[in-house]
Amino acid sequence: MRFEHVLVVGAGQMGGGIAQVVAASGRRVSLHDAAPGAVDRGLETMRKSLAKLAEKGGGEPDEVLARVRPVDDLVTADLMVEAVIEDAAVKEDVFRSADRILPPEAILASNTSSIPITSLAAATRRPDRVIGMHFFNPVPVLKLVEVVRGRETSDETAEAITELARELGKTPAVANDFPGFVSNRILMPYINEAVYALQDGVAKVEAIDTIAKLGFAHPMGPLALADLIGLDTCVAIMKVLENGLGDDRYAPAPLLENYVEQGNLGRKSGKGFYTY
Ligand code: CAA
Repeated sequence: MRFEHVLVVGAGQMGGGIAQVVAASGRRVSLHDAAPGAVDRGLETMRKSLAKLAEKGGGEPDEVLARVRPVDDLVTADLMVEAVIEDAAVKEDVFRSADRILPPEAILASNTSSIPITSLAAATRRPDRVIGMHFFNPVPVLKLVEVVRGRETSDETAEAITELARELGKTPAVANDFPGFVSNRILMPYINEAVYALQDGVAKVEAIDTIAKLGFAHPMGPLALADLIGLDTCVAIMKVLENGLGDDRYAPAPLLENYVEQGNLGRKSGKGFYTY
């Protein structure tokens, strides 16, 4: 088995989900988060998710959890998957530190949904072994991994990460390093337009989501999905598209920014377009 020991940095909804699917594949995981209590909350979320999956014949939750070791700092491993907040400077710091701590042959991957892989690679001395490994929320359920090649990512790195995604039970799809890659170049303008429809009074929240759910056979409407992703994350990704593609048609809808300014971030804060 390749990548027997994986360091996951960030224990939020994405990092925790990634740690879970890696541990469920039989690998050892070291899980680090700089925020106090974050790893414990991540483990609790994992326990609930594993219990749901066990009802359907998934692995024994305790056995999977036993392979996840909380760590106070970055540690050496065969692979790092970084899933900290969508802030380029914070991510670059993680990559700079990981480059010092992990052996030179280790691959450094980021779950970023919008930050250029090439700029994360530039913070290291191994740009050929830096890559995007973008999972989708909820990670234990959704089958896609968007594998993002930076300008200097080697074929060997891309193949190793594509193969790992398959071993985790996911379907990899490869994209190049453009703002928002493929997934968010499509998804975020769709969500943003739904917010404009709400802002313009075209329809109420429930009607907008019902139209997308039943009209396009989506599992959830765009406003419920925005709440799941986090409205602050949606704003951040729209800004990356706006700046990166140099086109103000990607500017976040003012109503979306208002929600974020008021601290209504979606599910994680208990209120967004819906109340939780
Ligand atoms: N762990 C384990 N199982 C879970 C789970 C979790 N975290 N969340 C849901 N499930 C299971 C449920 O137990 C349920 O199983 P059964 O069918 O066996 O009962 C099944 O998944 C469906 O869940 P629910 O019945 O609760 O509700 P649902 O049918 O509406 O599904 C959903 C929930 C999976 C979230 C579904 O609505 C969905 O796929 N929504 C779209 C999510 C999406 O688009 N995500 C991408 C976001 S974009 C992103 O992540 C990247 C980015 O860059 C921003």
